[in-house]
Amino acid sequence: MTQEPTLAEDPEAYWNEQAGPIWVSHQEDLDRLLTPVAERLLAAAAPQAGEHVIDVGCGCGATTLRLAECVGAGGRVVGVDLSRPMLARAAERAAGMSQVALHASDAATHSFEAGDADLVLSRFGVMFFADPSSAFSNLRRALRSTGRLCFVAWQASEKNAWATTPLRALPELLVPDPAPEGAPGPFSLADPARVRTLLDAAGFTQVRLESIEGSMPVGDTPEAALRFFCQVGPLSRHIATLEEADRNASVERVRRYLSDGWGTDAVSFDSAYWLVRASAA
Ligand SMILES: C[S@@+](CC[C@H](N)C(=O)[O-])C[C@H]1O[C@@H](n2cnc3c(N)ncnc32)[C@H](O)[C@@H]1O
Repeated sequence: MTQEPTLAEDPEAYWNEQAGPIWVSHQEDLDRLLTPVAERLLAAAAPQAGEHVIDVGCGCGATTLRLAECVGAGGRVVGVDLSRPMLARAAERAAGMSQVALHASDAATHSFEAGDADLVLSRFGVMFFADPSSAFSNLRRALRSTGRLCFVAWQASEKNAWATTPLRALPELLVPDPAPEGAPGPFSLADPARVRTLLDAAGFTQVRLESIEGSMPVGDTPEAALRFFCQVGPLSRHIATLEEADRNASVERVRRYLSDGWGTDAVSFDSAYWLVRASAA
């Protein structure tokens, strides 16, 4: 086994040294994959010209840039992220947009200006807080009383075949996840009751969750899907811990599994996420 930083043990190192560089190298593919999610989120959040928006876990800046267009030069978009490589990519893309400010910081504890923001938005960036209760309280404090929260978070992994299917090729990895339910990770906000409890406790009102289910096109061929899975998501996290020979053997097994199941056509998987909306007061 190799010693890659893990999300559970050292999230800052994980997002800076492990996942961040991968997200940067796949930025265009990931943005293409997740554009429909961004557009759905923006339609629900309806950012207006002149508004002040916080983009939590803004990553390489896809939603930050779209928000900047929506609020215009008279508005403000503050992107906050733990990952310096991802923020560097966001900064390159936002060059010349004076309404964008980016901070390398933990959004759970960042000192936002209190009561100043109109909107806190996040595309899959709020599921990684070690203490989500205090993190959501911190985000609510940043909002003015008329402000709103709008984010997306994955539903249970069983409803997200993109996360589970490649692992089925390696059944020995399908041992029960030792992390306690709700531990930081992509599926930590899968339980709608938990989302409501956390947001209610943080002082949000009118909490609404909308289920968005569909199909996610992961690759034009099984080979492209395999390359993607080896870099991003649960399979990549598992194989990253293996020595090279074991890793190659595992990838080969997933390759055979994907090709057997899908022939040579484009590969899409079921996906499901929550679109969550709440008011600050
Ligand atoms: C799944 S990625 C999503 C990135 C981006 N929102 C997008 O949709 O492309 C999760 C992002 O959240 C960031 N993140 C994780 N925990 C964070 C925290 N406590 N504070 C700020 N950012 C965090 C990661 O660095 C990463 O950029």
